[in-house]
Amino acid sequence: MTGSSTGSTYGGSGVGAGGTHQSGVADTDVTGIAPVEAGHLVTEVAEDLSVFDGVVDKAAEIVVRYPQSRSALLPMLHLVQSVQGRVSQAGIQFCARQLGLTDAEVAAVATFYTMYKRKTCGEHLVSVCTNTLCAALGGDAIYAKLGEHLGTDGRKLGHNETVGEPGEPGSVTLEHAECLAACDLGPVIQVNYEFFDNQTVESAVELVDALRAGQRPAPTRGAPLRDFRTAELELAGFWPEDEADYRAGVDGPSAAVETLRGAKLAEDRGWTAKPYPAEAPLPEVEKK
Ligand code: FES
Repeated sequence: MTGSSTGSTYGGSGVGAGGTHQSGVADTDVTGIAPVEAGHLVTEVAEDLSVFDGVVDKAAEIVVRYPQSRSALLPMLHLVQSVQGRVSQAGIQFCARQLGLTDAEVAAVATFYTMYKRKTCGEHLVSVCTNTLCAALGGDAIYAKLGEHLGTDGRKLGHNETVGEPGEPGSVTLEHAECLAACDLGPVIQVNYEFFDNQTVESAVELVDALRAGQRPAPTRGAPLRDFRTAELELAGFWPEDEADYRAGVDGPSAAVETLRGAKLAEDRGWTAKPYPAEAPLPEVEKK
């Protein structure tokens, strides 16, 4: 069986009233994950991949980093997101063609990890940690407030929704996230995966207002703030041309006082842990 009449759902802007990008709109390409026609799986429609012409060389660079080309899939998906701000069906097919995988194999990975987006992200992706510790320290209140603050016409901005035209300057996608591995600095927010530690409702509102106004506030630590698509290119392993300057600004010790507090207390009080025996027997592992 050939292409589905339910086929591609690409091309719609999906921008709802008031500039808010609504959920469940045209660029959520569910048919790309499991094309179905009259109850049967069908062959995917061949997409126009020319949007990726400018990154074919980069894709080749990624592939040669690995002994087996399929291992390059995760950075390849980040490369795709650096072009379109999401993993579209065309992006899935581009990865599959580059790596000798099936579209289904690529889609299975792209839909498993939350860092791969099915809807086009804004210029900035704002991730609010609402896992237990951050939630108790104020993360839930921050997420609720940002949803309200960025919403339009009395409707809250929801998870994975964007205010503004996705990808355009000042557009912001909001999401709640699981533990962002900075519990000692909670509640934390990430913007394009850079940390803003020890947030409050007020500081979070100031942060998103600055992003909406086209500013780039400095993260608490790490690299300077970039836009989502540039961050995706970096996640694919490509650095800015001024790599030396860029690295000089971010490399070096970045441990927070809070992170080292336990070690400092132990040092001040002369506490030591029992040394681990040099010849510790390994536990038996049941053979399968
Ligand atoms: S619970 Fe928020 S960083 Fe761990």
